[in-house]
Amino acid sequence: MKAVVYERYGLPDVLRVEDVPMPAPTAGQVRVKVAATSINLSDWEGLRGSPAYARIGGLRRPARRTLGSDIAGVVDDVGAGVTRFRAGDEVYGDNLALMGGFAEYAVAAETSLAHKPSQLTFAEASTIPQAGAIAVKGTERVVAGSRLLINGAGGGSGSFAIQLAKRLGAHVTGVDSAAKQDFMRSVGADDVIDYRRDDFTRTSQPYDLILDLVAHRSVFAYRRALAPGGRYRCVGGSVRALLRVLTVGAVAGRVTGRSIGVLVVKEGPAHFQPLADLCVAGDIAIHIDRSFTLDEVPAALAYVGEGLALGKVVVLPS
Ligand SMILES: NC(=O)c1ccc[n+]([C@@H]2O[C@H](COP(=O)([O-])OP(=O)(O)OC[C@H]3O[C@@H](n4cnc5c(N)ncnc54)[C@H](OP(=O)(O)O)[C@@H]3O)[C@@H](O)[C@H]2O)c1
Repeated sequence: MKAVVYERYGLPDVLRVEDVPMPAPTAGQVRVKVAATSINLSDWEGLRGSPAYARIGGLRRPARRTLGSDIAGVVDDVGAGVTRFRAGDEVYGDNLALMGGFAEYAVAAETSLAHKPSQLTFAEASTIPQAGAIAVKGTERVVAGSRLLINGAGGGSGSFAIQLAKRLGAHVTGVDSAAKQDFMRSVGADDVIDYRRDDFTRTSQPYDLILDLVAHRSVFAYRRALAPGGRYRCVGGSVRALLRVLTVGAVAGRVTGRSIGVLVVKEGPAHFQPLADLCVAGDIAIHIDRSFTLDEVPAALAYVGEGLALGKVVVLPS
């Protein structure tokens, strides 16, 4: 089968398309004929080996030869003990532990997959698992009238999170690059900020909730941007910023009546299916910017990594 492989961290030119042996599902795993794999920032981080958490399990070399975690496709073989799926089932899920979605076939743990809703295409379903789980968890504390800021709101998780927060009645400010301002407004943001021009932490109207998808500022800047009783949660960004949030942030928040911490997002269908249900009901829209073939995966990753993607980008292997 064809797969996009790499042996060292780097830019997209370290990727190449190769013929590799078909993966065989072991106990508790299923093999999926991949119909679509959406790209997440975590794929770009896994390619670059940066931030440092992207090297967990593979300090000097990538732990997995093939990236791609958010897969959708058709089950074609199952390992021993698999009870929820059989050949022919249409599935989707976040295969972050094993990756391998930029290929014609991928193996995934049965527990990471769900049955694909028939109302969604494979491409649409593939956009949901990772970004959806982050968006659902990141907006669970939103209440009507609260002021929410989402940093990095023009990407995959952000475009879902803006819509979820608007449904809950929040006032939403989206922060991203200049090219994404119109897109953030089109999915519901009330206000938008270009992070290259303005610093959202120097605001005159502080926020009740900040969801930070790309943290890199100091804890004291985040505290400044929060209203009394406010809550800051980050889910990705530089390791330095994340460590500061985990250590200094917890204390700095507590002593000033704010809460500063890291958002813990669990994997698995229970965490992304609520978003899929809303998409099926037509309450949340899925924004696919572009689709690429397997041969075009280097270009697709460059498109995301260089900040050109509005919403989600999808790879269609077959
Ligand atoms: N369980 C977990 O906790 C978990 C699991 C997987 C992923 N993650 C993390 O979740 C995060 C979100 O991923 P995603 O797939 O939604 O990302 P994405 O689609 O790439 O969106 C991120 C957005 O942030 C923007 N951005 C980059 N630097 C920025 C800055 N300094 N200020 C404001 N915006 C900035 C990007 O635009 P430009 O490039 O144009 O600047 C992009 O639009 C990632 O950090 C990832 O590591 C967490």
